Amino acid sequence: MTSTNDIRRSFLDHFAGAGHHIEPSAPLVPHNDPTLMFVNAGMVPFKNVFTGLEKRPYTTAASSQKCVRAGGKHNDLDNVGFTARHHTFFEMLGNFSFGDYFKEQAIDHAWTLITKTWGLPPEKLTATVYHTDDEAFDLWRKISGLPEERIIRIPTSDNFWSMGDTGPCGPCSEIFYDHGEHIWGGPPGSPEEDGDRFVEIWNLVFMQYEQLADGERVDLPRPSIDTGMGLERIAAVMQGVHDNYDTDTFKALIAASVELTGVAAEGSTQASHRVVADHLRAASFLVADGVLPSNEGRGYVLRRIMRRAMRHAHLLGAKDPLMHRLLPSLTAEMGAAYPELVRAQPLIAETLEREEVKFRQTLDKGLRLLDEATAGLGKGDTLPGEVAFKLYDTYGFPYDLTEDALRTQGIAVDRAGFDAAMAEQKAAARAAWKGSGEKASDDIWFDIAETHGSTEFTGYSSTSGEGEVLALVKDGAPVEAVEAGDEVVVLTNQTPFYGESGGQMGDSGTITTLGGLRATVRDTGKPLGRLHTHQTVIEAGTLKVGDTVHLTVDAERRDRIRANHSATHLVHAALRNRLGGHVTQKGSLVAADRFRFDFSHPKALTAEEIGDIEAEVNAQIRANETVTTRLMTPDDAVAAGALALFGEKYGDEVRVLSMGKADANSYSVELCGGTHVRALGDIALFKIVGESAVSSGVRRIEALTGEAARQWLGARDEALKAAAAALKTSPDEVPARVAQLAEALKKAERELADAKKALAMGGGAASGGPAVEEVGGTKFLAQVVDGLDPKGLRGAVDDLKKAVGSGVAMLVAVNDGRASVAVGVTDDQTASRNAVDLVKAAVAALGGQGGGGRPDMAQGGGPDGSAADAAVAAVKAALAA
Ligand code: ALA
Repeated sequence: MTSTNDIRRSFLDHFAGAGHHIEPSAPLVPHNDPTLMFVNAGMVPFKNVFTGLEKRPYTTAASSQKCVRAGGKHNDLDNVGFTARHHTFFEMLGNFSFGDYFKEQAIDHAWTLITKTWGLPPEKLTATVYHTDDEAFDLWRKISGLPEERIIRIPTSDNFWSMGDTGPCGPCSEIFYDHGEHIWGGPPGSPEEDGDRFVEIWNLVFMQYEQLADGERVDLPRPSIDTGMGLERIAAVMQGVHDNYDTDTFKALIAASVELTGVAAEGSTQASHRVVADHLRAASFLVADGVLPSNEGRGYVLRRIMRRAMRHAHLLGAKDPLMHRLLPSLTAEMGAAYPELVRAQPLIAETLEREEVKFRQTLDKGLRLLDEATAGLGKGDTLPGEVAFKLYDTYGFPYDLTEDALRTQGIAVDRAGFDAAMAEQKAAARAAWKGSGEKASDDIWFDIAETHGSTEFTGYSSTSGEGEVLALVKDGAPVEAVEAGDEVVVLTNQTPFYGESGGQMGDSGTITTLGGLRATVRDTGKPLGRLHTHQTVIEAGTLKVGDTVHLTVDAERRDRIRANHSATHLVHAALRNRLGGHVTQKGSLVAADRFRFDFSHPKALTAEEIGDIEAEVNAQIRANETVTTRLMTPDDAVAAGALALFGEKYGDEVRVLSMGKADANSYSVELCGGTHVRALGDIALFKIVGESAVSSGVRRIEALTGEAARQWLGARDEALKAAAAALKTSPDEVPARVAQLAEALKKAERELADAKKALAMGGGAASGGPAVEEVGGTKFLAQVVDGLDPKGLRGAVDDLKKAVGSGVAMLVAVNDGRASVAVGVTDDQTASRNAVDLVKAAVAALGGQGGGGRPDMAQGGGPDGSAADAAVAAVKAALAA
């Protein structure tokens, strides 16, 4: 038997041998096409190469591409499990020519590979061509030698392939395998073609056109080739079975599901085992490629697939969640070809289990409700739409799950009724929101959200991508088109731009189109918590609703924001470690150039605490652990130790960020929707540059990371060097040198004061040297000095008093034109002389008022410093009186 893995390898080897570039499978979420939910064909990753937009260094390629068809144009979900060949997930083998070879070589390759390399008998094969494609018909005749009746002209769209409503397309030629007379069915184009006997195994598309959104179809620059062969189908043929679910891969998955449920895969349980096996593949590969279950967009398609499988697991009587326990069988089968499956295994297992646990909580009740509602119904009847809506809304049954559950009984579901109930609920939600006092201008966001649903943020893993313009809002009103000079809010179905929220600033960047638009995104927003807006200035060109645009985030700025955001988580953890569990986040601002973090703590941080926190955070940065993100319910997240932000609103499910290592655990676990570094080493450096109070009990740290921190430290270093140069020492010696200088300065000041006093005492004064006179029978000594600090006046007068021995001493100090005066009377003279009276006479002479003190020492002052000698004369006159 040729295993599925062997067939895949042999296909790629064939084309590698023929000079084709072998391209690894692209992720299931298309990065180059906003109109497509999932990659649904091998050519999707090459779409822009076909249209000539993108150049690659090769002109032929081959791949084994992961595909999901569970929404949009190619939707196989409903049939999966009940037919031999429908899948939600499958692998498409394909070879491609981008303007290199065309029909002849494509047919030749296909024929050689399947009849020569793989040895399928030509008599089992039939080809089809588009009815007008004589060239292909003749080439088939020539290359394969098939008789004319086995080259069938088909006039329908079956032989005209297009990827979606727009994109590259062209007529095609299909190869069918005849599984034998024992199976009912006829060749393509016959009345029995819907039977299962003739199975299409390979589709060769002769890519010639591009279908545009306005309905026009234009020629591709160069005719090209796109082929697609379902690996599961060719594996069935080569393994001699008719049914894809009987091939090696599916047999292994079904055997695992049989073993774990203890229920054989036969009769009515067969479909359930098949659904479980098929959906396990789709769900696991989607999670591995970054899709997580949600209630919107891609995440909702994943949830529908998962829940459909989980209902079938329940039908099989599985007592415990089943899906995650089947995962090891899947990785054993496919992990070697798709290493991403192995890498993501823990995340996939966790996601499957969580979803199944959650869904099982309501599944029984929902099924009971469904039983009651269908009790009186039979084949051909219809379940009311409100019941389907209740199942959806209360019990988490996606609409198609309800349909699926009623399928075997032949009961339909009233889709219109379901839609009406859904619309009613949305209107109620809107009314409730309005009642909550939100601004009226939010109306426009409601209109947009109602028409288009939520917009998707794709920027966790990339900083550029394409989006389709859903709405343009100018001056608060929707417009269809804008032009150069306009300022407009642009909404796209998906965007890598982070909408400002949760303290993290919005991204900036550019929006461009191939049609010449150049626009600058200055800021972003996230109205209603689920729309992503771009505040944009149109620089050149025009932009209209429906355009496909290229969105490019300023990645360097985003990296700085990322580093700062991750650093807030580390600071939070470090603060709690150092200061205690009372520390909780009270707010934060994460910008590109800096961040701040507010937290509860009663007092200022000491320099030592700040140093410890810096050291701890930088140690985590250097350890460079990978940052991991998981999706959980808020309760599970908190149970897992995540720090939830008080007062934040969380949705149904939350992102949980784990960073760093502390013993066996993560150093920090937090709920957070922001963007973060991939590994902590990306932060590079962390420095606290401010610590202050915000309000009572709330402190604020301001900090820098990476290059900003380096520059800040660099500036400090420069300042220190400049100080060292000025001090004529080395930077290391600056503190000691400054302390020394301060000491020397204090000493010099002391000496200066002493010198001034000595000067006052020892002569050189403005009025000549002091001399003791006899005035009115009392010894009197007076001196006028310039520039003596008035504070030193009393001490100086005490010294003069000593010089007089017994009598009166007087000192006038003139400073900046003003005069201060002190008069002292020796103790033995205070009975007859009063210093207060004497100083008052002097003050009056200096043009001042008052003056006071004790009989032995009094002080005062006046504005007229030039009257110093007059003041001395006034005191003398008082003594003489
Ligand atoms: N793109 C073609 C298909 O999907 C080959 O069938």
